[in-house]
Amino acid sequence: MRFKVKVPASTSNLGAGFDALGVALELYNIFEVETSSDYEIEVTGESSEHISKDPSSNLFMKVYRKTIAYLGHEETPIKVCIKNSVPVGRGLGSSATAIVAGILSAFKVSGKEVSQESFMDVALEFESHPDNIVPSFVGGLVICATNGEVKFLKLNWPEDLKFVIVSPEIVIPTEKARAVLPESYSLKDVVFNVQRTAMFVGALLSGRYELLKEAVRDRIHQPYRSELIPGFWEAITEGYKAGALSVFLSGAGSCIGAIVKDNGELVGNAIKSVFEAMGVDAKFFILGVDKNGAV
Ligand code: HSE
Repeated sequence: MRFKVKVPASTSNLGAGFDALGVALELYNIFEVETSSDYEIEVTGESSEHISKDPSSNLFMKVYRKTIAYLGHEETPIKVCIKNSVPVGRGLGSSATAIVAGILSAFKVSGKEVSQESFMDVALEFESHPDNIVPSFVGGLVICATNGEVKFLKLNWPEDLKFVIVSPEIVIPTEKARAVLPESYSLKDVVFNVQRTAMFVGALLSGRYELLKEAVRDRIHQPYRSELIPGFWEAITEGYKAGALSVFLSGAGSCIGAIVKDNGELVGNAIKSVFEAMGVDAKFFILGVDKNGAV
């Protein structure tokens, strides 16, 4: 059996919506799978040096094998060729693409239909915060709520807004980016984020884009994670000066995300220059929002 799984990257949090909001992006990892006599992994493209080729530690393969067992299907080794485009360790959900692809591959090999419930059951074993996994799975703008299980709502992203994603050569494992966060927050800080998360979704749905700048201010993660990213606040300032509607940390970082209408090149170059002036290589992508999720 041979098949391909194409999974979009994602940017999560979107400022204040920590562990709640995520958007699928038109940047894809492709997994070419073939049933075989043994487990084998080949990786080409972006960040391939950061992806394990060892079947016992490669995330895609671990998820595939665990899902095959969960489905009660007999062990079926596969060869996978990963054509990677999503930078690793930069807050674009690269691990989520591997988790989504691993689960979907196991369903395909087993011949079983994928249901949202069975997908989520397995996905939560590998990732407790679903704000990257769900957008990669279903596409669009997703609002997630977890409480033992995941409830989510998929909304259409406005056609006239794009993302600029600036990726500096700074790799931050998510565990490290979560370890810098406090154990608890003041009521004032929690209220600050609740107000802005609600405003973000409302501003998008009503076309009140001038509110998107206030809506991405946050007191839960960006102030702490900024310490891991030299030039973070300057990058935010320069993004706004260049005309972005919103500028924020993408997921757990290190990428900077910006929402723009039509000045993506200007915003991308302005943010990239901040990193380059500090001797850190950076590149940027101008991306639309993926509507379909993994296929
Ligand atoms: N919401 C998560 C975080 C995304 O910011 O830590 C990374 O999984």
